[in-house]
Amino acid sequence: MAFFCTYGGSGAEGTFRTMKEILGMEPIETVAITEREIKEDTCDCKIEPFVRDVEEPFRKPSEPQ
Ligand SMILES: Cc1cc2nc3c(=O)[nH]c(=O)nc-3n(C[C@H](O)[C@H](O)[C@H](O)COP(=O)(O)O)c2cc1C
Repeated sequence: MAFFCTYGGSGAEGTFRTMKEILGMEPIETVAITEREIKEDTCDCKIEPFVRDVEEPFRKPSEPQ
């Protein structure tokens, strides 16, 4: 499980906490991206490591990082 959140600017931590409580487990990764980061196109540096970590368990040993 991994959490991906877009938001205006507040509440992501509390939302993630509630989601963890409901699901009863820790996510392997979380990322929260503000509306501003999307509009200014500065969110790739958060999304790329998130995707890498989420894909990791599915990657074959021979595949490049
Ligand atoms: C009903 C509603 C409630 C929202 N509540 C919050 C909020 O509590 N905190 C926040 O930071 N942004 C809030 N937002 C802003 C959106 O989450 C934000 O614009 C987000 O980037 C939208 O992404 P999306 O178009 O992928 O849903 C709310 C938006 C709506 C429509």
